[in-house]
Amino acid sequence: MAEEGKSETPKRYPAVYQYGPHTVRGLKPGEKKKWCTCGLSKKDPWCDDSHKGTGFVPLLWTVPDKPQTLYQICSCKYTTKPPYCDGTHINLPCDVLDRQRDCKKNKEHSNCRKLCTNCGYVPDF
Ligand code: FES
Repeated sequence: MAEEGKSETPKRYPAVYQYGPHTVRGLKPGEKKKWCTCGLSKKDPWCDDSHKGTGFVPLLWTVPDKPQTLYQICSCKYTTKPPYCDGTHINLPCDVLDRQRDCKKNKEHSNCRKLCTNCGYVPDF
C-alpha cells in the first residue's frame, strides 16, 4: 500500500531473453559489467542500451574478488539474486504466458514498438 501523499509505481515486467542462464567465462575479478534488466539487449546478459525508452536501467555489477571460472548469469531477467541465475526461470514460462494473455494493455500490443512493460510482451521477439 502506498504511503499517504505518495503514489505507487506500477510494477514493470521485462522481456524474457531466454528461459535459462548464460554460462559466462573469462571474467576478471573487479571487472565492471552492466547486466541487462530489460531483456532486449542483443548482447545478453550484458547491456547494449536497448533499454532506452522502457524505464529499465542496467544493473552495475562488479565481478567478485574470489576467482571463479564460470558464472551462471540470469537471462530470463526474473532472478531474485541479480545478476546470478537462481532457478526462477524454471516456473516462468506459464507465468509469462498468463500475464501476457491477461494484460490490460493487450489491445495495444499490435502498436507496441519495443516492450509492453505491463506484461513483458515484445513484438517480433
Ligand atoms: S535465467 Fe533467470 S533465474 Fe535462471
